[in-house]
Amino acid sequence: MGIDNTSPYKQGDLNLDVLLIGNGGREHAIAWKLKQSPNVKNLFIAPGNAGTSQISQNVTIDSTDLHNLIKFCGDTDIDLTVVGPEEPLSIGIVDKFTDKKLMIAGPTKSAAQLESSKAFAKEFMKRHQIPCAESMTFDNYLEASNFLDHVQLPIVIKADGLAAGKGVVVANSKTDASKALDTFMNQRTLGNAGQTIVIEEFLDGKEVSVFSFVDGEYHSPLVSACDYKRAYDGNVGPNTGGMGCYSPAEFWSEQVDEQIENEIFAPTVKGMAKENNPYKGVLYGGLMMTKQGPKVLEFNARLGDPETQVILPRLKSDLAEIMVGIAEGRLNKTRIQWSDQHCVGVVLTSNGYPESYETGFRIGGLKEAGQTALIFHAGTSLDNDSIVTSGGRVLTVVGQGKSISRAREIAYEAINHIRFAGAFYRKDIASFDNVSN
Ligand code: AMP
Ligand code: GLY
Repeated sequence: MGIDNTSPYKQGDLNLDVLLIGNGGREHAIAWKLKQSPNVKNLFIAPGNAGTSQISQNVTIDSTDLHNLIKFCGDTDIDLTVVGPEEPLSIGIVDKFTDKKLMIAGPTKSAAQLESSKAFAKEFMKRHQIPCAESMTFDNYLEASNFLDHVQLPIVIKADGLAAGKGVVVANSKTDASKALDTFMNQRTLGNAGQTIVIEEFLDGKEVSVFSFVDGEYHSPLVSACDYKRAYDGNVGPNTGGMGCYSPAEFWSEQVDEQIENEIFAPTVKGMAKENNPYKGVLYGGLMMTKQGPKVLEFNARLGDPETQVILPRLKSDLAEIMVGIAEGRLNKTRIQWSDQHCVGVVLTSNGYPESYETGFRIGGLKEAGQTALIFHAGTSLDNDSIVTSGGRVLTVVGQGKSISRAREIAYEAINHIRFAGAFYRKDIASFDNVSN
């Protein structure tokens, strides 16, 4: 595995007991990759799912129960903690673990504000001339409402705080924009996340998710993926957590990479360090490729879901070593390489997702599907010896190939083997018959 000569460690030297936090498809993919590392001795996942229980040991602690996570790390002598989702980061898991001298890879609560506060991220980007949509931030409803008289449509209204994908409204009319302000700021449908809002210019273009590992100063080469957010074929229907994904983006080139590196990632990492708020962890830029160049729609402080399921199979290096490099601030000594292969991931959901759906259905055909594709579990659990559905997004099925079309074929062929009541998936992931995702 790609550990280079400058690494202070040889393969298998670290002998780590690792705790991974989270329970989605992203975490199953992280667990799968960590298990390939000769540096990982034991892997625990809190709370995990049926898929992670097959390759590591699930621990029934919620991902935001910091007290019990810390206790578990002490009792079990965990050497390294890796964090999947944003909530534990936003409530300061890294600060608390660091206080207790527990090694953890991720941003502090303050640095994680790049994701947990859109107002913080906007102000930061403005200070460092990082390209993003023009915007104004408001914590007063009347002022925000009056401002709507002066904007061009469509306009984008964003709740400041974490909202699990429900905090952004692209409004095509002033009525819709006013309604969004009212629900976020007055009705507080998202609780305190909607106390402050950002009103921003609508950006037109192709969206791309870009990732880099960051150790406070150094950051790794970028990797790209494209995610399909709408529920139905042709990019219609409600927004979801992500219905499918592919990596790399079809338009990725050295020139695009260099531009995003120079205009977005380098100044972000440098800017955070300069402001005494060094960023350590995975930096995820949700970008819009506009006619004027790439612009930031949002930053996230973690890996994406389902993007992780299509990027980690392309990581040629040792993920455990990368996580230690992040935590110890010596990522520049760690070789981080991405393969040229293509990955396409299709998400299987419970019928009705993202609204209401039933769970508890037995899943069949996983073994057959797993012969040719990677199967990452999300909403699954064990019912006696059966694997059953337990969430909206159930599985991500990933095909790998020399071309995107081959990877796509493998993913869809594998899906044909999988059966559960109400299984639903998009048929057009990475098909390019649509204009954009
Ligand atoms: P965010 O959580 O900020 O990434 O927003 C969720 C989704 O809303 C994005 O993936 C975009 O599809 C859309 N979006 C957010 N901001 C804008 C914008 N300024 N212009 C156009 N679409 C946007
Ligand atoms: N795929 C979108 C996200 O992880 O936020």
